[in-house]
Amino acid sequence: MTKHLIKHEISITKEISFCRRLVFTPKFYLALLVSQVVILAVFVYPRNFQNYDPLLVITDQRFQEELFNRTTENCSIWNSTELEPDTKCPIISPYLVGYRKPIISTAINWGDTLEKYQTVRCGGHFRPSNCKARQKVALLIPFRDRYAHLKIFMNHIHPFLMRQQLDYGIYLIDLDDKIMFNRGLLLNIGFLEASQEYDYDCYIFHDVDLLPENDYNLYRCSDLPRHMSVAIDKFNYKLPYDAIFGGVSAMTKDQIYFVNGFSNKFSGWGGEDDDMYNRLKFHHMTVMRSMEDVSRYKMLKHEQSAPNPKRFNLISTGMKRVKEDGVKDLRYEVLKKIYYPLYTYIKITI
Ligand code: BGC
Ligand code: MN
Repeated sequence: MTKHLIKHEISITKEISFCRRLVFTPKFYLALLVSQVVILAVFVYPRNFQNYDPLLVITDQRFQEELFNRTTENCSIWNSTELEPDTKCPIISPYLVGYRKPIISTAINWGDTLEKYQTVRCGGHFRPSNCKARQKVALLIPFRDRYAHLKIFMNHIHPFLMRQQLDYGIYLIDLDDKIMFNRGLLLNIGFLEASQEYDYDCYIFHDVDLLPENDYNLYRCSDLPRHMSVAIDKFNYKLPYDAIFGGVSAMTKDQIYFVNGFSNKFSGWGGEDDDMYNRLKFHHMTVMRSMEDVSRYKMLKHEQSAPNPKRFNLISTGMKRVKEDGVKDLRYEVLKKIYYPLYTYIKITI
């Protein structure tokens, strides 16, 4: 019995001394280093790699060609011979799934996307076949050069809007390259163009880099203007300030005309949404927002554009110009209007 115990003790002592020796050998440290590198390579690197994905930040001619090579010459939205069901769609669509992680992948194949969304009509129109949608919604996207974002956005937004059983159309409004980007102007023109095409109930102003994460965030208008991108990942899913009206917002035709749309004077980045907030306040309208756990968005990465230094002055003097600076009497020229399979592209100049 004691002999056995002594033997056991000896083997333990041997093991301890082996471990001690091991800790002092260079091989041990080498093995430690190699294992760390393996852990980094397998778990950490791919996540960071995704963040630095060049396709999320570049302007790529190849995408432009890929996206532009299928167009439809004669594209009518819905003609009167195509009967719409009489029954209204349910208040809450039965197809909603709630939170769904947006797929941000460069591997999205444009051909597959087109194949998947064959029920979308030329120009990016859709309506449910089994019921009458509760609202007709135009998505207006001010656009310049963000083709990599566009591909991800289209792949995400079509099934999202379909699940909400909406009668919708998607419009990309692009500005003459010689003119500095102007979000407010593009949204005003998008509104005028879309309303000439179809009797929309609701207009949603939508940045191309924002992906809604939860389809209970219903893309509809209310009695008062709505600010929809309440919680964006870039701002840690918190509202940056109370008066924000940028990103994604929704207004009816009457609400837009009531405040004379956006100002056309905000060239470059920033301020046009703050000015719109002031217009709403000036006309005694309050802004509605949904709960932040539903109104969540993922923002696609891009370089921050240079803010317009004149925006503060424009904002502070804005209410003097409400009557003459807006959507009424706006003069512009349509340079191109193309019905692509998943959206209508309108390029304008002033
Ligand atoms: C700008 C807004 C913008 C907001 C959030 C503000 O400083 O004036 O146009 O929406 O920041 O980025
Ligand atoms: Mn952005």
